[in-house]
Amino acid sequence: MGRPLRVAALASGRGSNLAALIAARDSGRLPVEFTLVGSDKAQAGALAIAAAAGIPTVSLSPKDYATRADFDAALFGRVADSGADLLVLAGYMRIVDAAVVSAWEGRAINVHPSLLPKYRGLHTHRRCLDAGDTEHGASVHFVTAELDGGPVVAQARIPVHAGDTEADLAERLLIEEHKLLPAVIGAIASGRLGWAGGPVFDGVALDRPLDLASL
Ligand code: GRF
Repeated sequence: MGRPLRVAALASGRGSNLAALIAARDSGRLPVEFTLVGSDKAQAGALAIAAAAGIPTVSLSPKDYATRADFDAALFGRVADSGADLLVLAGYMRIVDAAVVSAWEGRAINVHPSLLPKYRGLHTHRRCLDAGDTEHGASVHFVTAELDGGPVVAQARIPVHAGDTEADLAERLLIEEHKLLPAVIGAIASGRLGWAGGPVFDGVALDRPLDLASL
């Protein structure tokens, strides 16, 4: 066996997806090594979770940089310096400069709480309820310059029940995100999922999102 996949993560918030990844690694289900957890928010719970797990952390403030591109170049530069093979955006809530992102084509993934291409951006649970959808879900996609617009590789679905609130959907969906993200990273670590100008799974160009059972 070769060396484990080296994974860096960026997160802006509480870090439950990061915690799920660390738990998967600790239980032996996810053969990865975490090189860095970075944030644009010094108070992000994700940083504390990473530090408690012995993972190096970095927190940079956008206010300290003249432009978005300068900030992104600095933070993504730290990710590159960590030696990461794969960058995981796990609740990273900033739009990233196109030139900075393009350097990570095929090597960066994001988890988004909607069935993309529905509901890119914010407030996905509210928009799902407002639309009267009977189904909601989460997507993992490769990151491109287009916000939440890169090729989707896997999705998990949940039913929307009568009377569901945004908080209900967020809570039930998070459980699925916590399975989906480790499963996708596991598929990348094993070499089943990769990138050749677009996502490739088991040697074939992926033309529709995978579900958890296929991963
Ligand atoms: C998740 O729902 C993720 O999909 C979204 O923000 C939330 C982050 O949660 N982008 P956490 O910080 O991983 O707990």
